[in-house]
Amino acid sequence: MFKSSKIFYNRLVCVDLVSNVKRRVSVKSHRCDVRSFEEIPGPRSYPIIGTLHKYAPFIGDYDVETLDKNAWLNYRRYGSLVRETPGVRVLHVYDPDDIETVFRQDHRFPARRSHIAMYHYRMKKPDVYNTGGLLSTNGQEWWRLRSTFQKNFTSPKSVKSHVESTDTVIREFINWIKETNISHNQDFLPFLNRLNLEVIGIVAFNERFQSFSPDEQGPSSRSSKTIDAAFGSNCGIMKLDKGFMWKIFQTPVYKRLADSQTYLEKVSTDILYNRIHYFKEPDDDDISLLGSFLKQPNLDLKDIIGMMVDILMAAIDTTAYTTSFALYHIGRNPEVQQKMFEEISTLLPTKDSKITPDTLAKATYVRACIKESLRLNPVSVGIGRLTQKEFVLRGYLIPEGTVIVTQNFVASRMPQYVKDPLIFKPERWIRDSEGYENIHPFLSLPFGFGPRSCIARRLAEQNIGIFLMRLIREFNVTWMGEDLGIKTLLINKPDKPVSLSLTSRFL
Ligand code: HEM
Repeated sequence: MFKSSKIFYNRLVCVDLVSNVKRRVSVKSHRCDVRSFEEIPGPRSYPIIGTLHKYAPFIGDYDVETLDKNAWLNYRRYGSLVRETPGVRVLHVYDPDDIETVFRQDHRFPARRSHIAMYHYRMKKPDVYNTGGLLSTNGQEWWRLRSTFQKNFTSPKSVKSHVESTDTVIREFINWIKETNISHNQDFLPFLNRLNLEVIGIVAFNERFQSFSPDEQGPSSRSSKTIDAAFGSNCGIMKLDKGFMWKIFQTPVYKRLADSQTYLEKVSTDILYNRIHYFKEPDDDDISLLGSFLKQPNLDLKDIIGMMVDILMAAIDTTAYTTSFALYHIGRNPEVQQKMFEEISTLLPTKDSKITPDTLAKATYVRACIKESLRLNPVSVGIGRLTQKEFVLRGYLIPEGTVIVTQNFVASRMPQYVKDPLIFKPERWIRDSEGYENIHPFLSLPFGFGPRSCIARRLAEQNIGIFLMRLIREFNVTWMGEDLGIKTLLINKPDKPVSLSLTSRFL
C-alpha cells in the first residue's frame, strides 16, 4: 500500500526538519510530502521473519533480555525514529517532542499490543473470566473495566486511607530487618518482593500473607508460590508476544504462564469466596480495594477475579524493582541520603513518629529522589501503543496498527535532554532549588501517560515513599554491590544482587 517513495498527503500534522531545527507545522488543508513507513531507517527486514533474525542466538546482535542495549544500538545506528518488524510493524521513538506527538494521537480507548498469550489463556476460561483483564484488553471492553475499577485506585481519599495500614506493614518489616540482622551478602530483592506482597495484600485485599513468618519463607508456602507465580506470569509475556508457536502447542514458556495464572487465580478466588462467605453484607470497616469492589452494586465476580489477578501480577515486581533501584542510587550518593535524612527527621522527629498523608505531602526531597530514580531506572524501557489511526511523524506516514514503543529509558539518559544525565540529582525536579531543570514532560514517563497509564500510580508512589522514609529514618544505607544494570523480562529487573549494608542510626 505504501510502496511509492513519496506520497502526497493532505490534512495532517507534518514535522518539518530544516537545518536540524525542528519546526512543528500544523497543516489544515495543505499538501506536503510524506514518506512511507518502510523508508524509516531500521535494521534490514526479510520476508516472513522481518527483523527477528536480529534476536536469534549466535547470529543476531540483539538480545531480548537487554532491550535497553538494543534500543541504544538502534539509536546510534539509525537515529531518533527506528523501524523494526519482528513479526509486526514496530516504531521506536526517542525524541520527547515526538513522544508527545504519539500520545496526542491516543484514541479515546488507548490500546497496547501486549499480554497476547495471557489474553488467549483467560478467554479459554469463560467460567473464571469475563475478559482478558485490564492489562491485555483493548477497546470498549477495556474501558468498561477501567471505568468500573478506576475510582477505587485513584481517588485521593481512597489512596490516603491506606497510609496507616501500609505504614504498619512497613514498620513490621523494619523490625524484622533489625532482628534478622541482614548482611550485604544477602540479596535484598527477595525481601522487597515479600514486603510488597504483604503491602498489596493489606491494601488491595485486606489480607495478611504473613510472608516473613518462618513457615511462609519455605518454597511451597502461599507467599512464596504467589511471588513465583507473579514473576512466572510476567517473565514470559514479551517472548510470547513476539512468538507464535504457543498458538500451535503448549511451549514451556506458555505453560509457565498458564500455571502461574492458574495459581494466582486460586489465591484470588480463595480470598474472594472467603470474604463473601463470611460477610453477608459488605463489611463497612474493610477499606481495601476488594472491600470497595464488593460495595459497588452489580459488580460481576468474574470481573473482580480478573482484577485481583492483575493486581497480584502488576504490583509485586514493579514496586520491588523500583525500590531496589532507588536504594542503589541513594546508597551510592551519601550527600543525597544526608539531605533525605534531614528532611525525614524534621517530619518524623522520633523513629516512632506517625506518618500521615500530610507528612508524605511535605516530603518534597524524598519524592524527588523517587522521581529521579525512576528517570534513570523506570521499570519499563518505554510505553507501548497500538496506533488506531494513521498519522504523520517527522514526515513519515505511520499506518494504523503500528506498535509504537516510546524509548523513555534511553532518552532519559541522553545529554541533549538532561544535564549530566547519568548523575543522580533529585534537585533537578525541585522547582525552587538551584539545580532545577525544566525537563520535557514527555521524557520520563515511568507510569505511562493518559487514560491508559498505571491505574495504581498514586498507591505505588505512596508505598515507596513510606518505605524510604522509614528505612532512611532507621538506617544509614550503603550500596555494597557492583554497578547495577537491567535485565528486561517485560519489566526491568536488577541484573545483579541488591547488596546493601544497613547501619542503625542512633538519632
Ligand atoms: C513503581 C511501581 C509501578 C510502576 C513503575 C508501574 C508502571 C506501569 C506502566 C508503565 C504501565 C503502562 C502504562 C501505559 O501504558 O500508559 C502500568 C499499567 C498498569 N499498572 Fe502499574 N506500575 C507500578 C505499580 C503498579 C501496582 C502496585 C499495581 C496494582 C496494584 C499496578 C497495576 C497496573 C495495571 C492494572 C495496569 C494496566 C492499566 C490499563 O491498561 O488500564 N501497577 N503500570
